[in-house]
Amino acid sequence: MNERNRHPDNNRPRRGPSGAGSEGPSDGRLVEVHSQLSRDKDEPTEGFSLTPILIVFLFCGFGFWAGLYLTRNSGDFAPTAFDLNAPKASLAGGPVAFEPDAAKGEKLFLANCAACHQATGLGVPGAFPPLAKSGWVTGSEDRIIKAVLAGFAGEIEVNGVKYNGNMPNIGAGLKDAQVAHIITYVRQAWGNVAEPVMDTKVAEVRKAIGNRAQYIPADLLKEHPLEAK
Ligand code: HEC
Repeated sequence: MNERNRHPDNNRPRRGPSGAGSEGPSDGRLVEVHSQLSRDKDEPTEGFSLTPILIVFLFCGFGFWAGLYLTRNSGDFAPTAFDLNAPKASLAGGPVAFEPDAAKGEKLFLANCAACHQATGLGVPGAFPPLAKSGWVTGSEDRIIKAVLAGFAGEIEVNGVKYNGNMPNIGAGLKDAQVAHIITYVRQAWGNVAEPVMDTKVAEVRKAIGNRAQYIPADLLKEHPLEAK
């Protein structure tokens, strides 16, 4: 390919910037030049071009986006769907059955009761009675639920020692499940041994006593006498 072919216009007079003062090429010549130009495509070259790389990146990006989309919008297409031993709750998403949990109860006890009865459950002599080894704690569940829901005011005897204090209606501000966890904990801590308490039992007692005033301990004992040891 010679220089003349590549630049067929080179030896023709050029137009000035204004385009005036020189003759343009004839129509026939223009057609000839165009046909030469369109035959005269570039030879393949070495080196790299940006386009294929961009396409690869776009493709990877699309794949990544598709993965994200599937992860976020796969709905119930959970990996546990075919695992018969998987916990039901993760499939149905429904409410999980209540289980009395002493560990949860301990946390709630520390937050709601330990200021008076102490983390040791031993109380404070002369002021707050002990919950450790107390028949009030390990006996009737109705009695302790009522005490926690409504509170106490007046003279009480615990493990042979008399107290005359005031316990607010702490349980009134707690949920049934929370009260059940706390009572389950105090019935099993510090050497106490008694059955756990269910949230449904707390709900039942709460409904029965309503929004009543604090109990006088002697009155509560008339409803639920202390068990013989
Ligand atoms: C503000 C202090 C205070 C807090 C908080 C408190 N109590 Fe009491 N509690 C008392 C007092 C005082 C008595 C004794 C009441 C009396 O003298 O009539 C008592 C009595 C009791 C009794 C019966 C007596 C015994 O020692 O066995 C139980 C059971 C009991 N509380 C459990 C709890 C639980 C569970 C909590 C937490 C949900 C709690 N209390 C929070 C002050 C408190």
